[in-house]
Amino acid sequence: MTPDIDLTSQDFFRDPVAGLARLRAAGPVVQAKIPMVGRVWMTTTQETAARVLKDSDVFTVRKDDGAVAGLRWWMPGVFRAFTQNMLSTDEPDHTRLRGIVDETFRRRAVLDMAPRIRTIAGELADELFAQGSPADLVARYARILPLSVICELLGLPLEDRPKFMTWASRATGTSTALMLLRMVPTLGTIKRYLQRRLEHARTAGGDGLIAELVRVEKEGAPISGEEMVVMIFLLLFAGHETTTHLISGSVFELTKNASLRDWLAEDWSRADLAVEELLRFVSPVQFSKPRFVRRDVELNGIRLKRGD
Ligand code: HEM
Repeated sequence: MTPDIDLTSQDFFRDPVAGLARLRAAGPVVQAKIPMVGRVWMTTTQETAARVLKDSDVFTVRKDDGAVAGLRWWMPGVFRAFTQNMLSTDEPDHTRLRGIVDETFRRRAVLDMAPRIRTIAGELADELFAQGSPADLVARYARILPLSVICELLGLPLEDRPKFMTWASRATGTSTALMLLRMVPTLGTIKRYLQRRLEHARTAGGDGLIAELVRVEKEGAPISGEEMVVMIFLLLFAGHETTTHLISGSVFELTKNASLRDWLAEDWSRADLAVEELLRFVSPVQFSKPRFVRRDVELNGIRLKRGD
């Protein structure tokens, strides 16, 4: 029997490790409730998860009619437009879009940005510590650092960054339908802004991922104008919201666990290892996007029906 696990509840948010342990104890394929979507089947082992993720004939992000799992009829147009990204496409579109963004990243030598990222991180930390205690790590560091880095990576002009950060932070933290609807005007503003940046890159070139993406587009990459906007939007949100939560969740974990904190403070060359492990332990993304079952199938002894 599946326990009643509600991944939208405050209980789960307060102690996800305990919630996930209960899910795992219930079996490799269990039922749970997730935000926005409602009741779903979940896989709780590496083996079953891999089977679902790799079997793109049976498990797909879209239905025959193109409906995306998790997207609801009442969701506004701009929201729908932004969900038409590679996260919500099946093959062959996923590989087509992924190939284009991979090529863009290959040309941008992201690792070369490390010294610049360290400088931004150092400045933010100095300002935070100069304030004394108590200081707001989330607002003054964890939110700003990833957004600054992604702005730099995309090549957004320096003077635009403050307003851009305001929009981006307004568009995050949505967990209910009402919050989603309140976000609509901001999403429209962000969309128009990104369209203007793309137009600018098309006529004037420049540095950063947007300009690089435009170069790949001009070389004949199979991508539409709308897909370009949506791609940048995806990079922007996938690229900062996750990292924000990794930073704040990791620091929270270290403040709760003095021996772990001391282990790291003793030898900062352990930072890479710590990040790697915290990425698993405080996991900013708790589950993947949902998939539809395309035909009746048995998964570890559980019968899943077409349409589940
Ligand atoms: C702590 C940091 C991060 C975490 C935990 C994280 C987590 C994830 C996860 C779990 C997925 C798969 C989602 C799914 O299929 O359901 C994903 C996809 C993706 N992430 Fe991240 N991510 C992080 C940082 C970033 C950054 C910095 C960028 C870009 C600059 C980025 C861009 C993307 C993109 C483009 C995809 C879609 C890939 C595809 O569909 O092939 N992510 N991420």
